[in-house]
Amino acid sequence: MTVAEKPWSGRFTASTNEFVEAFTASVDFDQRLYAYDIMGSIAHAKMLAKVGVLTEQECQQIVTGLEEIEQEIEQGQFQWSVSLEDVHMNIESRLTAKIGIVGKKLHTGRSRNDQVATDIRLYLRHEIDLIIAELNRLLTALADVAEREAATIMPGFTHLQSAQPITFGHHLLAWCEMLLRDRGRLQDCRKRVNAMPLGAAALAGTTYPIDRAYSAELLGFDTVASNSLDAVSDRDFAIEFTSDAALLMMHMSRFSEELVLWSSAQFDFIELSDAFCTGSSIMPQKKNPDVPELVRGKTGRVYGHLHSLLTLMKSQPLAYNKDNQEDKEPLFDVVDTIRGSLKVYADMIPGLQVKADNMRQAAKAGFTTATDLADYLVRKGVPFRDAHEVVGKAVRHCIDNKCDLPDLELSILKGFSDVIEQDVFEVLTLEGSVAARNHFGGTAPEQVKQAVQRLKAQL
Ligand code: ARG
Repeated sequence: MTVAEKPWSGRFTASTNEFVEAFTASVDFDQRLYAYDIMGSIAHAKMLAKVGVLTEQECQQIVTGLEEIEQEIEQGQFQWSVSLEDVHMNIESRLTAKIGIVGKKLHTGRSRNDQVATDIRLYLRHEIDLIIAELNRLLTALADVAEREAATIMPGFTHLQSAQPITFGHHLLAWCEMLLRDRGRLQDCRKRVNAMPLGAAALAGTTYPIDRAYSAELLGFDTVASNSLDAVSDRDFAIEFTSDAALLMMHMSRFSEELVLWSSAQFDFIELSDAFCTGSSIMPQKKNPDVPELVRGKTGRVYGHLHSLLTLMKSQPLAYNKDNQEDKEPLFDVVDTIRGSLKVYADMIPGLQVKADNMRQAAKAGFTTATDLADYLVRKGVPFRDAHEVVGKAVRHCIDNKCDLPDLELSILKGFSDVIEQDVFEVLTLEGSVAARNHFGGTAPEQVKQAVQRLKAQL
């Protein structure tokens, strides 16, 4: 492209170095914003017509031209040009090619600085809505399994050692709590994303009698950015979103880790459906939990993008700097990663097969009802610390004799504490143990069912 063809070439005499042209261009990745760029331009043109800067007829020509361009892009007929640098100038230049001189009036009272900030916010607002929809789908799937498995016994762990029996439904609902907080953070972030930079122009505002409230109304923005310098420069909304995404992925990685462990031969608590696993090219027996492993692995890139964006913004003087062009690739990748991860989980969870017998078997091992025995002694008047000591001795006895607490004869148990009676055997059962934790937030099947109802009311 010769120097005269660039939209900003007036003060230049020499053309851009060829490599610099490619190096500074963003069109390869920012073309993803085309729909929001067109949406923003249409609103801007309508606003200019409303305040009398454009005639109704000029506005109509611009709107029609932009709508046709959107079609061209959607049908793959649009020629993107690196020498036109970015999505904004590609579209504007095509508009002028289509409708002539009127196309050149669209950029009145606007700069690419407020334009791009507006585009990213429109894009991110839409993506947050889609991400929340996927999150809700995953939460619904988890709530359904939790309801079905409200009374399924499994070992609960601390330090990855069997600790106390819990219900599988309760375990699933722990993940739901984390995801609900992630959803809340995204909903909160959306409010700050949904503020309109348009009208800030390059940095100081514009001399035209613009009506920013009208543009905001057309674009569905809740608020209008109240300082033009801030509006074109800060990307804190993208960083906030990415930090919410990093927390979400941290949760997804924990969730994934458990699915990987549980589908191993050593745990054998669950089976993921074939559609979400792959085999090995050398070991015929393998069925690998690739989906959870990949989600666990993808957590790293989201953490990395958070660091990139924080560093991108660090120490930037006001107002817009070209550095900000670097916000898009990390942001797009964060969006793709979390949307993809949530989607694949929402599709996978309904097919989760639960191996209740194995879970139950595992819950019986490791003296998981020892705390229940201690609580029993306390109810019979033994101070808790003494009860702890008594039960510790009983467990030692079981380890030495390779048996479990419920296997001990009453006479043997009485040897550890004479307050123990026949009714002790009820508290030593797995069902007795979980049913006894029957308070708000506890693992009892009854509580799990109530918690599922509360969760469903929020979906
Ligand atoms: N491609 C640019 C970006 O992504 C658009 C804004 C450019 N503004 C400028 N004055 N060069 O940030």
